[in-house]
Amino acid sequence: MDAASGPAYLLVEPSHYEVSYTINPWMQPGIWAEDPAGHRREAQAAFASLTASLRDAGGTVEIADGVTRLPDMVFPANGGIVLDGRALLARFRYPQRQGEEAAFRAVFDGLKARGRLDEVIILPDGLTQEGAGDCIWDRTRRLAWTGFGPRSSPAAPAFIAETFDIEVRRLELATERFYHLDTCFCVLPGGEVLFYPQAFSKEGNALIRDTVQADLLIEASDEDAARFCVNAVAVGHTIVMATPADRLTRVLRERGYAVSPVPLEPFILSGGGAYCMTLRLDLRTH
Ligand code: ARG
Repeated sequence: MDAASGPAYLLVEPSHYEVSYTINPWMQPGIWAEDPAGHRREAQAAFASLTASLRDAGGTVEIADGVTRLPDMVFPANGGIVLDGRALLARFRYPQRQGEEAAFRAVFDGLKARGRLDEVIILPDGLTQEGAGDCIWDRTRRLAWTGFGPRSSPAAPAFIAETFDIEVRRLELATERFYHLDTCFCVLPGGEVLFYPQAFSKEGNALIRDTVQADLLIEASDEDAARFCVNAVAVGHTIVMATPADRLTRVLRERGYAVSPVPLEPFILSGGGAYCMTLRLDLRTH
């Protein structure tokens, strides 16, 4: 990939998006069902606004087609982990999303055919792993932060470490509300970590504080977490996120970042925000 062209993101267009089942506590099929056409229109608008924000900030965007009856495909961060041109295909915990495995495999095979990926790797039997949603690359520390518990298996981090030949930090997710690491943990380009302490076990909190120096830790409030603002994408020094409260905008600005707010309410109805609507394709581990 051409480094000069900026970070590259895979997104999945939302024409098959809906909220029709509940596999996390944020999902609201009842609210969706009150006005499916209206929500779908809003989802299209929110998606357009997200892609525009990523491009304005200097990112390049690759848009894959959605698949009927796989509404959560709009969250490609869960489709796999891509590092060094190699994609580790996800395996999903819940049957509602398992059909996405073949769909993302087809997307990755297509990227490979076009020379955008070198290899597609399959997880061993018995492991679940929900992609970059539970594996966040930290360029500053040259390691991956991996989440497990509600979705990804406790043994997934070791497989990730071995497959990509990288160091990992394992973080147990303590609650179903913060079921993927990306709902409660975000690494910024200056090495800051924005995180929601209540989402982690005691050991998880201790590991974060042992690894990241105190002045680089930014604690998210209940409100920031509930607005899905921790689920953010840093495109250079612009942070693209669901509309934040003033305090968080201020804190990030003081640290030299620009905040690009996107009204992502239709996707928050499924428990997702900006980060999980993207999958970074061009990360290098060294
Ligand atoms: N409804 C989806 C699920 O429960 C939302 C996924 C959001 N993805 C994320 N990485 N946070 O799986």
